[in-house]
Amino acid sequence: MRFFLMTQTRSASEGPLFPRWWSSLFPRLRFGLVCLLAALPGLLLGQETKSKSAIQPIAIVKLDRKEPVTYEKDVEPILVNKCQTCHSGSVTEAKLDMGTYESLMKGGKRGKPIVPGHAADSLLVKSAGRTQKPFMPPKSEEPLTPQELALIKLWIDQGARPPAMQREKAKVILTGLPLSVHPVRALAVSPDKSAIAAGWGNQIHVYETAKGAYLRSLIDPDLKVQDSKPVKAAHIAMVDALAYSPNGKVLASGSFQEVILWDAPTGRLRKKLTGFADKVVTLAFSADGKMLATGGGAPTQDGEIKVFDAAGGNLIVDIKNGHSDTGFGVCFSPDGQKLGTCGADKFVKVFEIPSGKFLKSFEGHTHHVLDVGWRADGKLLASAGADNVIKVWDYEKGEQVRTFGNHTKQVTRLVFKGKTSEILTCSGDSVVRFWNVDNGGGGMAFGGNKDFLYAVGVSPDGQVVAAGGEEGVVRLYNGGNGQLIKALAPPGAEAPPKKK
Ligand code: HEC
Repeated sequence: MRFFLMTQTRSASEGPLFPRWWSSLFPRLRFGLVCLLAALPGLLLGQETKSKSAIQPIAIVKLDRKEPVTYEKDVEPILVNKCQTCHSGSVTEAKLDMGTYESLMKGGKRGKPIVPGHAADSLLVKSAGRTQKPFMPPKSEEPLTPQELALIKLWIDQGARPPAMQREKAKVILTGLPLSVHPVRALAVSPDKSAIAAGWGNQIHVYETAKGAYLRSLIDPDLKVQDSKPVKAAHIAMVDALAYSPNGKVLASGSFQEVILWDAPTGRLRKKLTGFADKVVTLAFSADGKMLATGGGAPTQDGEIKVFDAAGGNLIVDIKNGHSDTGFGVCFSPDGQKLGTCGADKFVKVFEIPSGKFLKSFEGHTHHVLDVGWRADGKLLASAGADNVIKVWDYEKGEQVRTFGNHTKQVTRLVFKGKTSEILTCSGDSVVRFWNVDNGGGGMAFGGNKDFLYAVGVSPDGQVVAAGGEEGVVRLYNGGNGQLIKALAPPGAEAPPKKK
């Protein structure tokens, strides 16, 4: 009974088309059956039964490995394959949730399963290595290979470090202008390509695009810090998302628990949208400019996806439980009747607007899906993954069309160039590049970036391209010939600031 209950709660939170529980149903059913069978003779004969074939500890092997073991590349895939069916989402045996690094480290009913620096003292290693009960996974399941166990051990001995790409927790920055280095998490090119807005830390500055001359900064006049001194910034916390409305009149910015709608030509604050549980990390207007979609939410909790009426700021629909983890990307279908979303739960999904009804989900990325875009004909969606690849999906068929890209780190953002089949991506590997979603071919690349990139933008005609990231610099390019127009730094910072 218990097993059926579990699968039911799961199926309710997943989509009907590619239900994830399907693959996890069998291990758990098998486990249930094995338990039942094991208990039967005992019940019938009234005596305790003991397994005859004693479980052997997993062999210990030595890894020949020079580079550090990382959670995201080495450890997480093992946990996904062999542990998460019973230790994540709505099923967390022994209260141990391995769905995220944080919840894994927090541990279950026996306490913390990992002692950083001490694999030998870690319960996870002992139970998965089968030297201490409970032996994991249960014997109905595929045990860890000696190599997998050795990798996990090495990762713990090296300090059990967290994944590199956790978007950092809401960091409250209470400094005024000018500033030391602040990473650029978001930027947007105006639809008429005359202006570019970018966020540096909690500030937003706007530049013209011909020469990169500074135009203005966007300031929330009501911002105060604890000692009630006014702060000249757009938000209290990091600016995580920026988007221009299609007619260029409104600029929306997303930050911790709020979205601000600015009058783009003047920089005046028009409206503040609140009521978000956590950070708003992605924003998109519908093609007619009437709706604004927001995505975000606290890591490991619900992805928070909402759609507002862009003029009045009223909530149209709150898509509850759309994603089981932070939503990283949102995009409207060209007719505004559907919303594509993606998130840390590795899914791309599509919902009906304004009802919020779930329509389809696309599964294939092996890591967080960091952005999603809809081609102007509405037939294809493209998504960017922390698994370093770009995937293209056929909406009608509900199928993956192709996977491509040669980024060597997370593809952090993706944006379609107007109504073409070309997308521009940026990545943790500091590469900015055009691609064609019809054949996966790479186009022009834009150089000079020296660090992890989070933000990229392109004008609809492709003539203005910009990118920014950890370096705290926004590079503005001529999209036609790839040349750098200017490396933009916030006003007050003379030269592009150096990395701290
Ligand atoms: C088929 C389901 C299933 C799978 C797969 C599974 N577990 Fe478990 N796990 C359980 C159950 C049931 C318990 C509770 C056992 C108990 O408390 O005696 C448990 C308990 C644990 C505990 C003890 C947690 C605590 O605080 O009490 C650890 C550690 C653990 N599992 C690690 C793992 C690891 C590591 C993997 C993957 C290699 C894994 N499990 C895979 C079902 C599973």
